[in-house]
Amino acid sequence: MNQDEMKKAVAEAALERIESGWIVGVGTGSTANYFIDALAGIKGKIDGAVASSEASAERLRGHGIEVLDLNSAGPLPIYVDGADEATRHLHLTKGGGGALTREKIVAAASKTFVCVVDETKVVDYLGAFPLPIEVIPMARSHVARALSKLGGNPELREGFKTDNGNVILDVHNLRIMNPVELESELDHIAGVVTNGLFARRSADVMLVGSASGVEEMT
Ligand code: 5RP
Repeated sequence: MNQDEMKKAVAEAALERIESGWIVGVGTGSTANYFIDALAGIKGKIDGAVASSEASAERLRGHGIEVLDLNSAGPLPIYVDGADEATRHLHLTKGGGGALTREKIVAAASKTFVCVVDETKVVDYLGAFPLPIEVIPMARSHVARALSKLGGNPELREGFKTDNGNVILDVHNLRIMNPVELESELDHIAGVVTNGLFARRSADVMLVGSASGVEEMT
């Protein structure tokens, strides 16, 4: 099985968690895309979806799935999304696709966050994948200096704007020993909209796809 096949298998496994009449929170990225495609097969069973990005909303609509506004649809019973890195404590790094802010909002507004990853994403410590941080454009240099003081090496994601009109700094060389603490610390830098650590609101369930099948971690 290659990585894409593992992503597809794990996304399809998440479908078993969806109950009739639910409005489903939907993440962003290639694994989430497999989930959206699978969701299309049971679209008659659900009452719609809330998307964590414009790209996911477009894909959902393309399948004829109604996309609802979180303000009227929330709180949601479930949120299904991938991750860039994940630990056995279900702490995550997200934002490789730049959708971290809306992802964090939908995750926060959902009862159960089901994270779907292939086995290559599971790590002992977060930090090998550069940590994405969404930043208000005028604060870019200020935030970059603050991140350097924390020992990171921030790099502007060139030519990229988030769905919220902001920029992303990808922070390299952080060995993240205490993700809960660092998540709070980063949120307190003026100009930071959201950081890609999902540790305070971690996943509730993680489905990990490998060649031998799908394993559940809680
Ligand atoms: C997007 C994300 C994605 O969940 C993360 O980047 C994983 O993507 P993929 O499923 O394509 O590997 O956080 O902002």
